[in-house]
Amino acid sequence: MSQSFTFSVLATDGKARRGEISMPRGTIRTPAFMPVGTGGTVKAMYMEQVRGVGADIILGNTYHLMLRPGAERVARLGGLHEFARWPWPILTDSGGFQVMSLSKLRKLTETGVTFRSHVDGVRYELTPERSIEIQGLLDSDIQMQLDECVALPAERKEIERAMEMSLRWAERCKAAFGDQPGKAMFGIVQGGDDAALRVRSAQALAAMDLKGYAVGGLAVGEPQAVMLEMLDITCPELPADKPRYLMGVGTPDDILKSVARGIDMFDCVMPTRAGRHGLAYTRRGKVNLRNARHAEDHRPLDEESACPATRDYSRAYLHHLVRSQEALGAMLLTWNNLAYYQSLMQDIRAAIEARNFAARAAEITEGWARGDI
Ligand code: GUN
Repeated sequence: MSQSFTFSVLATDGKARRGEISMPRGTIRTPAFMPVGTGGTVKAMYMEQVRGVGADIILGNTYHLMLRPGAERVARLGGLHEFARWPWPILTDSGGFQVMSLSKLRKLTETGVTFRSHVDGVRYELTPERSIEIQGLLDSDIQMQLDECVALPAERKEIERAMEMSLRWAERCKAAFGDQPGKAMFGIVQGGDDAALRVRSAQALAAMDLKGYAVGGLAVGEPQAVMLEMLDITCPELPADKPRYLMGVGTPDDILKSVARGIDMFDCVMPTRAGRHGLAYTRRGKVNLRNARHAEDHRPLDEESACPATRDYSRAYLHHLVRSQEALGAMLLTWNNLAYYQSLMQDIRAAIEARNFAARAAEITEGWARGDI
């Protein structure tokens, strides 16, 4: 651990990087997957379990927490780490992305975005300065700039306008964040599916000398090939000595292919959300526990796993829990899924260190394709 925020690349294999982010609340081994803890909870999980499967950092959301219970209240209660009983690093998203997908009657201007809460209809304003203030009240360790993400497909003019405004908002967030050695504020590359706009965004953010860089505006309706092409174009423009975070991605396959292109951090609701809908991620691909073929299957999801949810419970019981809509079904499958995602990241890190990432990625992919055990 370190008193200031530092990032070091420990090993590389092609463009894939094995690194470490160090800061006062802990060390993040990269490539890292951040479980999503939107409203101060990783849904259906105890924090002890989240830590136990190997997560070094979780993600929280400005948007949800500012509405309920409120950022000032979280601050009075000792900050998000104390409130949610997660003493290790937390990254918070800035709110703009969630405003656009969840709130009603939103209005976006150069100043910021005004909207009505999806909870109780109360009107709020989120500016770059207020987003950073809220993330500070939450005591977030890695704070994101406020940005505007355009859903694809979109007109080039619209993508360009949102990207240029996001650059101006990055400057305002940087000024609002100031100098906080133990924490970091990351910029977010936008530019949709336009190569020239992506390069412009990445170069302008790189010139701001931020502590880390996210790639946003992807996995928003475009094919995987387009997302990967954007990463091929964007990553080389970002400083090699700073962490790179691909926002809201993705499937295990997206993660392998993005690590191969130089991404260090990921977050996604997929493992947690899928777990609440009866879907299990395993070494042999996805298993839908709702399916009748599991009704009398004594076998666990994977007897070789170290996760009790994966190793100790029969598929028949998991099937029964899912069909009966029991809370324990969501809990066990979320636990299994986060354990799988974290074991995938550990596997990736070990392969980069051993400099056999491409071969290992092919083996992992082949395991999913081979089908159920
Ligand atoms: N989460 C997924 N994509 C994005 C994005 O483009 N911006 C922000 N702020 N969050 C995201």
